[in-house]
Amino acid sequence: METGLLHLHNVLRWVLLLLLLWNLVQAIAKKESIRSSSLWLMIAAHTMLLIGVYLTVAGKYGWTTLNLPAGSSVMSDSSYRFFLIEHPVLMVSSIVFITMARAKAKQLNFRSFTWLLVIALVLILAGIPWPGREVGRPLFPGA
Ligand code: HEM
Repeated sequence: METGLLHLHNVLRWVLLLLLLWNLVQAIAKKESIRSSSLWLMIAAHTMLLIGVYLTVAGKYGWTTLNLPAGSSVMSDSSYRFFLIEHPVLMVSSIVFITMARAKAKQLNFRSFTWLLVIALVLILAGIPWPGREVGRPLFPGA
């Protein structure tokens, strides 16, 4: 089950990024449709949160399956530190901003909506384990 959820978590990141960019384009064009598109964005973000919480608890790098080399700790091992601390903190923060943006979309406050989404986008781009990083993962599941 972990593998399937990890693959889903991998591919849903593209859905989330596309929805985020689509919401930004609509906000810049001041379209009232942000009321509905922001809902889809929030659903995608909260789905990532649910899968992420599961992976953080029971995945390969989960708190309940910790298998640290002798003498090391979560903070001294770069993979554990990334997947158990840095990645969740950045991504949960981005999801908070996306949720705040949803409230602004309902009020059609385009300016605040745009800024909250820009902050969320920066946090997500910083938190993704892009290939080439020390903790890098493939761009697509199983690639
Ligand atoms: C904005 C939302 C998020 C994005 C775009 C995202 C993206 C990713 C990507 C691309 C991977 C690598 C997948 C792979 O190896 O194929 C990953 C792994 C992981 N993510 Fe996220 N993530 C998000 C939210 C979260 C949250 C909120 C948590 C925890 C609360 C989380 C926990 C994890 C964990 C633990 C792994 C590693 C799992 C393993 O190797 O077993 N993610 N994430």
